[in-house]
Amino acid sequence: MSTTKTNSALSGWSPDSWRARPVAQVPDYPDAEALASVERQLAGFPPLVFAGEARKLKKALAKVQAGEAFLLQGGDCAESFGEHSADNIRDFFRLFLQMAVVLTFAGSLPVVKVGRVAGQFAKPRSAPTETADGVELPSYRGDIVNDIAFTPEARTPDPRRQLMAYRQSAATLNLLRAFATGGYANLDNAHRWMLGFVKDSPSSGRYQELADRITEALDFMRACGIDPEVHPEMRITDFYTSHEALLLGYEQAMTRVDSTTGDWYATSGHMLWIGDRTRQPDHAHVEYFRGIRNPIGLKCGPSLTPEGLIRLIDVLNPDNEPGRLTLIARFGAGKVGDHLPGLVRAVEKEGRAVLWSCDPMHGNTIKAGSGYKTRPFEQIMSEVKDFFAIHAAEGTTPGGIHLEMTGKNVTECTGGARAISDDDLADRYHTYCDPRLNAEQAIEMAFLVAELLKRSRAGRERPAAAAE
Ligand code: PEP
Ligand code: CO
Repeated sequence: MSTTKTNSALSGWSPDSWRARPVAQVPDYPDAEALASVERQLAGFPPLVFAGEARKLKKALAKVQAGEAFLLQGGDCAESFGEHSADNIRDFFRLFLQMAVVLTFAGSLPVVKVGRVAGQFAKPRSAPTETADGVELPSYRGDIVNDIAFTPEARTPDPRRQLMAYRQSAATLNLLRAFATGGYANLDNAHRWMLGFVKDSPSSGRYQELADRITEALDFMRACGIDPEVHPEMRITDFYTSHEALLLGYEQAMTRVDSTTGDWYATSGHMLWIGDRTRQPDHAHVEYFRGIRNPIGLKCGPSLTPEGLIRLIDVLNPDNEPGRLTLIARFGAGKVGDHLPGLVRAVEKEGRAVLWSCDPMHGNTIKAGSGYKTRPFEQIMSEVKDFFAIHAAEGTTPGGIHLEMTGKNVTECTGGARAISDDDLADRYHTYCDPRLNAEQAIEMAFLVAELLKRSRAGRERPAAAAE
């Protein structure tokens, strides 16, 4: 990319230029001076990630766009201070690796691993306040803003929570880096854990064949002398972090100039995304995002028109840089066909370089009879299938999936091989925000997506077969 072009696209931008724009979803901090003081402190703290890492991820995402890799992005809807433990992080990372093994093998493609983790704290809400038993209080906006308990003290936004979120992100990232490079990510481990899942799953029959083939492939490699002892690429992995950059004061404080290129980077995470509620083209979030050079995501929900999307791409990726922009489609089962083809066609017609990913979670949230917010596994899967089918029909690449999931055995989404029912939801419903797939449901999803990915790859290699 030529520097001149980048600079001209950035005219009038600075890390704080978003402050002159209208901004949605901002907390109402009672003490402006306390907020400013926290932001000043954060601005002096070390970056959590480096620009070079963000650039490496962007290159990997460019490969995904070209159909040479697959993006797996996932994690909590909202991280919390209360659930910050080594066990949680380890279980999440282990789940991620198991899913990646299945997807890598089935698609014969490298999997780019991006967690919703180490910074996923701020939540957009459908209403600024919540009423219970006649009492109206500010909505819970994520642990970086306020506390989930329903009391006036807990719900008052407290800027000091941003310092806690920063420190928790740093500690989480530190452990993830250790897992990714310190031997835990060994391919043999991930394979063994995955076999454990298949053995215990009620629908193991369906997954056994693929699992056996992975075992055979690894045995063959070992017989040829290719094993983790001698090949670091089999025990080290690249793992990246991402979150919705909703709380712009925090993000601004973590925005730094990269000394090697002179460009601005968000250093709160490798990849940041714009939520479906804050993607107004002339508002603050889009203004902030246009100036950072990280790979970025844009949630695309039912209210986004093809013209609106092109206008956003003009602002967010004016140089048409591969790997820069991931469009995360989240329409809901049965609705994908009404929206996605029009968006895909507009992007193709205008020749825009984007990565299409599928978030099958946020368009499929319902209220169960028991009163819990849930998501039926079958609906989630149905949206993923439609996503793949539409890309096959349009001749475009289904590049990735974006999931809300946890390594714990929670009961938040219904269905899956264990057929979690509405009545089971109360057993282990722990989420601070949206319902997540539990570990078994998430691996099951990986097996099902692997089947789609394999078919999609075969279809692209033999285009005639796709017409069947
Ligand atoms: C989310 O990803 O948690 C979220 C709020 O998504 P969306 O912006 O797509 O509703
Ligand atoms: Co969510």
